[in-house]
Amino acid sequence: MKITVFGTGYVGLVTGTCLADVGHDVICVDVDEAKVEGLKNGVIPIYEPGLESMVLRNYKEGRLNFTTDAELGVNHGVLQFIAVGTPPDEDGSADLQYVLAVAKTIGKYMNDYKVIIDKSTVPVGTADKVKSAVAEILKNRNSALNFDICSNPEFLKEGAALEDFTKPSRIVVGTDSQQVEELMRECYGPYNRNHEKLMFMDVRAAELTKYAANAMLATKISFMNELSQLAERLNVDIEQVRQGIGSDPRIGYQFIYPGCGYGGSCFPKDVQALAMTADQVGYDAQLLKAVEAVNLRQKETLFAKVNKALDGNLKGKKIALWGLSFKPNTDDMRAAPSRVLMESLWDAGASVVAYDPEAMNETHRIYGKRDDLTLVGTREIAVEGADALVICTEWKSFRAVDFEWLKGKLTNPVIIDGRNLYNPEDVNKAGFKYYAVARGD
Ligand code: UGA
Repeated sequence: MKITVFGTGYVGLVTGTCLADVGHDVICVDVDEAKVEGLKNGVIPIYEPGLESMVLRNYKEGRLNFTTDAELGVNHGVLQFIAVGTPPDEDGSADLQYVLAVAKTIGKYMNDYKVIIDKSTVPVGTADKVKSAVAEILKNRNSALNFDICSNPEFLKEGAALEDFTKPSRIVVGTDSQQVEELMRECYGPYNRNHEKLMFMDVRAAELTKYAANAMLATKISFMNELSQLAERLNVDIEQVRQGIGSDPRIGYQFIYPGCGYGGSCFPKDVQALAMTADQVGYDAQLLKAVEAVNLRQKETLFAKVNKALDGNLKGKKIALWGLSFKPNTDDMRAAPSRVLMESLWDAGASVVAYDPEAMNETHRIYGKRDDLTLVGTREIAVEGADALVICTEWKSFRAVDFEWLKGKLTNPVIIDGRNLYNPEDVNKAGFKYYAVARGD
């Protein structure tokens, strides 16, 4: 099947590559020439486990191609996936300019029937806007060409994107057309073999499903973070509470880990955008706004704990950071709690020595060269002579630590753990002051 994907970010690149991997003939279009040139030469712009080899293999075998030539892309696929960015506007609502620009491009160059698929996370009603944009261009061309719009939101997680795409919990397709249903069945058939994963629904229901899923997950996290605040003040170990409630299958163990706040490109943006959508239709979505507010407050807790641990004396202090990305297995720094911490530390006159297994280049790209930030190549170097260690991301390689060794490296025996990685007893026994997230300390 011939497929075109606009946008080679996380969603577009993973979608295009996974569809090529099962034998479809895919062209990915991007306006960024350097990115396209890089992809043709095997340079993958993001870190995502397994993606590089899959891109290289499919590119080499000719099923996956990259171009900046939009006309070529439009003429290629009967399916035209739109997977470009929807960054937040100044007011928090999703900015649709890139999505609509692609829609117009498709309208401009199409010469036969197309299915235009919204893969990006877009607010309810976007499919109608895409439809109008394409129809208007066709009208200007005096063209009576047929096309359909369909909503097919993506549910992949960074760091597990290939797994999520190839073994999806569901494939949501919003459409009112029988023909689209058949074409989408053909497209996803290879990933829909043993269990029926395709769910057909109304276009607007599909659009809202995406936001509902992310908002629900973000709500679980903010709920647990709020509870951790309560637990800290009541001297309760939140881990015991987590296990106590997770065992109820109606609650479940997933996504109830308290921490230093959710980050990434999706939850913060989508919760805000959904609250904005609610405002626009005259409903004050208080719960969604609280989910966001609780999260912003939670991101400030790391700094508050460092400040407390060092008696408010941060000027000239050297703080070691383990983990910079918003979660493990990615180099993504968008809305990462580590950024809130670093910026507060710098404001207070402290300096940061940081290590992350993947996000060092990204951190350097964001903050550039500055005297109060040193990026080092191992977790061992980071702690040398530091006044405290802060853990911002739960990378697997931080889980086992020889605390005696660590005590010899740090100037003060202080660990601030935003991810509850260690058993408080072990850390305390080694003579550390351990500030974790509501571990009853
Ligand atoms: C999220 C959703 O999980 C995906 O289903 C969705 O497709 C994606 O957004 C998207 O809209 O594109 P992602 O942002 O990659 O995926 O990351 P998650 O694994 O969901 O983690 C998000 C944040 O929540 C991280 O900062 C993580 O540390 C935090 N988190 C997660 C917690 O603090 N506690 C938990 O129990 C779970």
